[in-house]
Amino acid sequence: MKRVFSGVQPTGNIHLGNYLGALKQFVELQDDNECIYCIVDLHSITVPQDPKELRSHILDVAALYLSVGIDPKKSIVFVQSDVSGHSELSWILTCSAYTGELSRMTQFKDKSRGKESAPAGLFMYPVLMAADILLYDTDIVPVGNDQKQHIELCRDIAIRINNKYKKTFVVPDGRFLKEGARIMALDDPTKKMSKSAENIHSRISLLDEDGKIKKSIMRATTDSDGEIRFDPENKPGVSNLLTIYSVLSGKSIDDVVASFAGSGYGDFKKELVEITKEALLPIRQNFSEIRESDELKAILRDGAERAGAIAEKTMKRVKDNFGIGF
Ligand code: AMP
Ligand code: TRP
Repeated sequence: MKRVFSGVQPTGNIHLGNYLGALKQFVELQDDNECIYCIVDLHSITVPQDPKELRSHILDVAALYLSVGIDPKKSIVFVQSDVSGHSELSWILTCSAYTGELSRMTQFKDKSRGKESAPAGLFMYPVLMAADILLYDTDIVPVGNDQKQHIELCRDIAIRINNKYKKTFVVPDGRFLKEGARIMALDDPTKKMSKSAENIHSRISLLDEDGKIKKSIMRATTDSDGEIRFDPENKPGVSNLLTIYSVLSGKSIDDVVASFAGSGYGDFKKELVEITKEALLPIRQNFSEIRESDELKAILRDGAERAGAIAEKTMKRVKDNFGIGF
């Protein structure tokens, strides 16, 4: 069995991009692998957070994990800050990461652009992410395309340390989907769908009601040429909607295009509204019950214990190989 690890930040507005790029894979992988899914709260404090809201968002993401179909009997679900090994290993990896490679990370450049000074945590973000992954001897990391550079850095650090010390870490592979790995914003298909965009119609949140789903899709930016065709470069809006349709319906993009031959954008969007409503309804229905249940916190506690036991073994090996601690 392979070990799978991934994480989502508890920053609210979990959207269709998170689902199609990441969460859907999490569910599919849990039958044949040993999966560990984390709510990465330490990553979320690299930007300002309201403490009360953050606590609530942690439980929201935990409840969403379970609502989309992650089964705590099969997978470990836990909160990052509940296992101290993440912060501990992060420091050790920091000592083998270079400032040059960290300053080349596009996420850091995007998030710090135009600011006179950025928190050091934002700069170290990818090292903490590497610690998350390496702490569990992870083989596979299912994520969206935007995390490719971070996974590459994690591999580089692991290989570097394995060469310098005794072989200490498993070198992980990223798992990116062919379709769904980069869902674009509905109002501007040149940008990726994001949790933080101001326009709520740029995204579909997983808990959006039917009316909101309809409004956001019917308003989605397309183009004036009127033909339903997959061509991300020249028709980014239509191509993004086709991708969403394809992944949600399980049909290939070619089949979707063929089934709408001769139709207009309006008809296509109406069908997409129906398919999206159908996909999100069960998630929304599961969510409220799970979010309110006492069991949720018990699941997170149990998850932290199981994750903690694995982490402890890794930390012992790391300290031995580095000659630190006693
Ligand atoms: P985050 O919201 O940054 O914590 O991301 C959680 C997961 O969703 C990561 O695996 C991301 O790569 C993935 N993700 C975020 N935005 C998108 C998007 N627009 N399309 C596909 N995957 C995404
Ligand atoms: N950086 C990831 C994101 O924003 C979240 C994350 C943190 C993660 N640690 C991870 C993803 C470890 C995979 C593995 O999407």
